Amino acid sequence: MIKVGVIGSGSMGIGIAQVAANAGHEVVLFDTNQQAVEKAMNKLQKILVRLVEKGKIEESTSVEILERISPASSLIEMQGSGIVIEAIVENLAIKKSVFSELEEICGDDCILATNTSSLSVAAIAAACKKSSRVIGVHFFNPAPLMPLVEIIPAIQTSDAIENETRSLIDSWRKVTVLAKDTPGFIVNRVARPFYGEALRIYEEGIADFATIDWAMKEIAGFRMGPFTLMDFIGNDINYTVTETVFAAFYYDQRYKPSFTQKRHSEAGWYGRKSGRGYYDYADGAESLIVNKNKELGDQIVWRVLVMLINEAADALFLNVASREDIDLAMTKGVNYPKGLLVWADEIGIQKCVDALDDLYNEYLEDRYRCSPMLRRMAAAGSTFY
Ligand code: NAI
Repeated sequence: MIKVGVIGSGSMGIGIAQVAANAGHEVVLFDTNQQAVEKAMNKLQKILVRLVEKGKIEESTSVEILERISPASSLIEMQGSGIVIEAIVENLAIKKSVFSELEEICGDDCILATNTSSLSVAAIAAACKKSSRVIGVHFFNPAPLMPLVEIIPAIQTSDAIENETRSLIDSWRKVTVLAKDTPGFIVNRVARPFYGEALRIYEEGIADFATIDWAMKEIAGFRMGPFTLMDFIGNDINYTVTETVFAAFYYDQRYKPSFTQKRHSEAGWYGRKSGRGYYDYADGAESLIVNKNKELGDQIVWRVLVMLINEAADALFLNVASREDIDLAMTKGVNYPKGLLVWADEIGIQKCVDALDDLYNEYLEDRYRCSPMLRRMAAAGSTFY
């Protein structure tokens, strides 16, 4: 079994190390901040104790996982790895310098993978002389619990490395999907309207946070409403992702960030972690009143859902991924109750097109333009499946 190197011991790095160790690999974990490694190992130990207490894993498994992960004091210790997964700070210049250093340390056959969520894999690969062995492997947070991993070959990546990487991650009992090296890959692209359209509905004064959350959770069946989810992710992080995706798409209006979220982020109202976001998490804080008007709820759900379907259809139209992988990505990466393309078939493609055209005709904004794929399918009377 190959040795696995993990660089960066933040929330993602330690989670990935746990997944690899659980699959039986020896793992070497490096971070420039030695304290971060110690903190991560202590945190992992506590998580494993809890898992044993809950009867989810055997005590012996917990011991084995910890024994398999060795903290490293220098990057040199990545030598001999079959794959190195980088999960350091999201900064292109720093990632490039780590990759070019890694290339000198690791053997020619070692796969060099990045867990970046928003940078171009091609740009990171360009830091290496042998760029054909660089690939994106995008885990979701928390890595041990979320089944999805997006596999993102850069234009430089060889087919052999793509296949080898995907089989390896599959063997870790993860659900892998293949995504084109485009901004946001699958999930962070297709999910934008879940936040963006919910924020827009709020900004127009159609409904408040709690009512929108109620509609998306109770009527549409999403595990969390968009505002609860943004508070959970952190408005600082979610806003930055939106801004990055917006810029990366050359300011396509579909991905335009929202002032409401920007202000929440600027105010330090990040969400759960700061005690206040769209909701107040202080002890004894009053909960917001929900307007459980079914007609209003349906209107909210319909508008967000049709925008999500449009985004999923457009990702398929532009060959970002296959229809199966787009649906799998949303159900396994962000727990959507149903694949968006399956959902579109159930609703009826023509109905989706009409709803999008109604929005477009009303607002005359580019964000509501219907994907050519949906329009062509409606004309042909075809379905996704
Ligand atoms: P984090 O901030 O929790 O941890 C990053 C760690 O990298 C820190 O411990 C830091 O000391 C270390 N580091 C920084 N520069 C380094 C270097 N040159 N060499 C070695 N270690 C270095 O970050 P997080 O959230 O774990 O994210 C890591 C990567 O994973 C980023 O690229 C992020 O975009 C991506 N990602 C994050 C997700 C999330 O939900 N947090 C989800 C999926 C991907």
